[in-house]
Formats: sequence, C-alpha cells, structure tokens
Amino acid sequence: MALPSKVRIVEVGPRDGLQNEKQNVPTQTKIELIRRLGEAGLRSIEATAFVSPKWVPQMADAAEVLAGIERRADVSYPVLTPNMKGLEAAIVAGAKEVAVFGAASEAFSQKNINCSIAESLERFRPLVQAAKTAEIKVRGYVSCVLGCPYQGDVAPNNVAEVAKALFDMGCYEISLGDTIGSGTPEKTKAMIEAVARRVPLKKLAGHYHDTWGMAIANIYASLQLGVSVFDSSVAGLGGCPYAAGASGNVATEDVVWLLKGLGIESGIDLEKLIDTGAWISAELGREPVSRVARAALAKRAADGI
Ligand code: HMG
Ligand code: MG
Repeated sequence: MALPSKVRIVEVGPRDGLQNEKQNVPTQTKIELIRRLGEAGLRSIEATAFVSPKWVPQMADAAEVLAGIERRADVSYPVLTPNMKGLEAAIVAGAKEVAVFGAASEAFSQKNINCSIAESLERFRPLVQAAKTAEIKVRGYVSCVLGCPYQGDVAPNNVAEVAKALFDMGCYEISLGDTIGSGTPEKTKAMIEAVARRVPLKKLAGHYHDTWGMAIANIYASLQLGVSVFDSSVAGLGGCPYAAGASGNVATEDVVWLLKGLGIESGIDLEKLIDTGAWISAELGREPVSRVARAALAKRAADGI
C-alpha cells in the first residue's frame, strides 16, 4: 500500500510526557509548553488529565492548565477523563475533547484505573454518552497493545476486542498504545491488522513509546499499512506511572524528521519544534531525548547559530 500523503500528529507531551515527572512542574510552564507547541504547528495537543490527584499528582492542576491556555481556533486540546467525575470537571474547565483510556491487559487495567477491562468499558459508556450530549468529542485509548509490564504478551485479538468496544460506544478514533515500548515492526503490523478487521483503519492511531528504541520503526511499519495518525511527545518526554521503566513516547521531532524524509506532510515547523523541545528540557533540567533534536542542536552549535 502507498504511504499516506498526510499525517496528523497528536502531541501528548503536556500530558503523557509530564504525568510521570517527579519534580513539580509549575502550571505556567505547562501552559507555556502548550502555547509553544501550537506555534510550532501542532493541531492536536493533549493538554492534561482530569484524573485522581492521589494517583497522578502532577496532573492535579488540570483545571488551571485548561483554563490558562490561550486557545487557538485551529487547535484541539483533548484531556484524559477516566470517569464521570473527570468528565464533569473537564466540562466545567471548558474541554471540547476528552479521551477515555482502557487497556488490552487485565493486570494493567487494575493497576492503572483500579478496575477490570469490562468494568472500565461499563464506566466509559455513560461518559461517552454524556460527552456526546455536551457536543464533546471522545477519543479512546487502548494501552498495552504490544505487551504488558505485569502479564507479558498481549494477544492482538484482545486489543481488537477492546478497540471495537470503544469505537462502537462512540469514540471517534482509537489510539493504540505500546505503553512499555516493547513492540517490533512485525508484531506491530500483526496487531494493527487484527484491529483493522474490527475497526476501520482510518480510525486508528499509533501511540508508541520508545523504551526499546523501536518506536520509529513501528511508525514506519504502521504507515506501510496506511495508518495516518500518530501520538508523540516533544523531546521524548515521559513514561507511565503504572509501567515501571517505560520511557517516553516517541519524540515528536523524530517523527517529523521521518515524515519529512518520506515526503509526508505534517504541517509542523521542525525548527520551532526543536526550540520548544530544547526549552522544556532545560526547564526540567535535562537534554532532549530526541536524537533528531540532539543532532540538530549540535549542528546549530557547530555552525555557530
Ligand atoms: P479509584 O480510587 O478506584 O476511584 O480510582 P474512586 O472513584 O474510588 O475515588 C477515589 C478518590 O479519587 C476519591 O477521592 C475521588 O473523589 C477521587 P477521596 O474521596 O478519596 O478524597 N477521584 C477523582 N479526583 C479527580 N478526578 C477524578 C477522580 N475520580 C475519582 N477523575 C481512578 C479510579 C480512575 C480515579 C484512578 O485510578 C485514576 O485517576 N487513575 C488514573 C491513572 C492515570 O492517569 N494513568 C496515566 C494515564 S494512562 C496512560 O498513560 C497510557 C496512555 O498514554 C496510553 C499508552 O501509553 O499506552 C493513555
Ligand atoms: Mg502513553
């Protein structure tokens, strides 16, 4: 199959990237990160998560972040909502798009959202209904699609079942999360093929973490199947509080570089994105994880820019 001519990137750095940060990231820094990402051309920026602050303390300022961002008309700012309480708070804070997050692994579902997969789907159903009534779009995540930190292998058919349940209840897109980044290209293809037998391929997004260094290869494999939406995190920020050792999402800079090389349009200004990644990394006291950003910054330094 021909590669897609255009790809939409869902930037998850402000949520997936920061949720695991041990240091307290000031609310204003989160707001500024979201602003800079919008300037760099990102059109979907996952802003925060309306989850229990006992479970994920870094997201305790969700309402302040959402209220504080200067919204661009051409950008959507989805937020995570695990239950009705989260949805209600997100609506009050002005969310126009939310995301529910289930898992293909029972063990991860229990650790992450404290319920079974079946219970999570029952919890999401009224949430999706209420969101629709309020004209709020809902995205659905499936975690652990290529492996689970607690139970190991995950069967592609289990992923397909959860993806289909989320799609059937009204999620407009299903993001397939390799939460622990253990997937490889052929495994990724087999998983996507299994899911695409139950949910239209055009409704699928790849959400790959780079723990084992395969995320870019998995994106390329997914592009070959026709997937055209990918989640990524500026500077490769992140990890998962319920998946020990998981590193961040694939870096947005690396994805944009790949797409440029393939002649695929993403609408993102790579230089501005690199500046944003360098800025947030400095705020957090580290170097960007992105190999592309590191190479570009080294080149700039060598060129005296
Ligand atoms: P629970 O303890 O079963 O919930 O947690 P509960 O209903 O019994 O409530 C317990 C307390 O939390 C109560 O407070 C509630 O009010 C409060 P208390 O009475 O004890 O003071 N509470 C809330 N507070 C704020 N916002 C809420 C909310 N709900 C309850 N929405 C719950 C269940 C789902 C709430 C909890 O497990 C939770 O918040 N989990 C979130 C975990 C999380 O955010 N994980 C990271 C995101 S998932 C991810 O990163 C993977 C992904 O990126 C894809 C991939 O990489 O594969 C998406
Ligand atoms: Mg993730």
